[in-house]
Amino acid sequence: MTSPLRTCVFPCAGFGTRFFPATKVIPKEMLPLVDKPILQYGIEEARDSGLNKLVIVTSKGKDTILDHFDRTSELERSLRERGKNDLLAEVDVVSRMVDLISVRQKEALGLGHAVLTAKDAVGREPFAVLLPDDVILAEEACLLQMRRVFEETGRPVIALMEVAPEETSRYGIVAGEMVGNRKFKISDMVEKPKAKAPSRYAIIGRYILPPEVFAILERTERGAGGEIQLTDALRELVKQGDFYGYVFDGRRYDAGEKLGYLKATVDYALRHPQLGAEFRAYLESVLETAAVS
Ligand code: G1P
Repeated sequence: MTSPLRTCVFPCAGFGTRFFPATKVIPKEMLPLVDKPILQYGIEEARDSGLNKLVIVTSKGKDTILDHFDRTSELERSLRERGKNDLLAEVDVVSRMVDLISVRQKEALGLGHAVLTAKDAVGREPFAVLLPDDVILAEEACLLQMRRVFEETGRPVIALMEVAPEETSRYGIVAGEMVGNRKFKISDMVEKPKAKAPSRYAIIGRYILPPEVFAILERTERGAGGEIQLTDALRELVKQGDFYGYVFDGRRYDAGEKLGYLKATVDYALRHPQLGAEFRAYLESVLETAAVS
């Protein structure tokens, strides 16, 4: 994998069933985390990692995702006329942030199928995949941390996080061994193991992959949950050469389900430059009241 890494694929075609009824009409990627939609955090992470060709995989009913990152001339004109320059800057930043390529997944056949939908948009280059539900709060963007391993080895890299034994059945789990600081050499992987998991290292939604994965995805059969699983295709890649995991430095939230979303909201709100201090005082007062009642 010698071409430079510049592309990031965002699978955004899922139904968001874990967040019903909120996501019946609103795409889960558009739910606000404090004051930005969840997807915007992922887009900022990709941009901070030096990726500028962004491919969004959407499905029916997800058009507001593309609208959010589009220019909104009428809104911008109205804000300018009313002298609302601070708001104008915020709106402007979003629409100038990136140029998006949008592809549409016509059938909900799983993550592997969503990634395959981006094949022509990606071309014959290595690319990253970022699952927007997996929000990662980190000093240094998670994909940038992983990019270093990719540049040093020229081999695929996926994000890993240690999870509790009772949680392994919710993730893709890898087998292998640590070979350096946070660097893990993967020998196998399994999607949502029902029996004993091969380790406690779970795959988190950040991947740096070679274009060869598309040919594998084209022949990957339906796996766990009746879906075409990205993990099953990656298993094939592992057999073809060195494949690394990176135990990233940062905190990950599953913002695609209710509790994870609430935790992310609290942590991001506490860190918000304008809201953080007042929100902290409020939380403290709520907890104090709860303690005495
Ligand atoms: C997907 C992947 C899984 C990974 C998880 C991380 O699963 O298939 O390997 O561990 O994302 O969030 P999903 O959560 O979409 O079922």
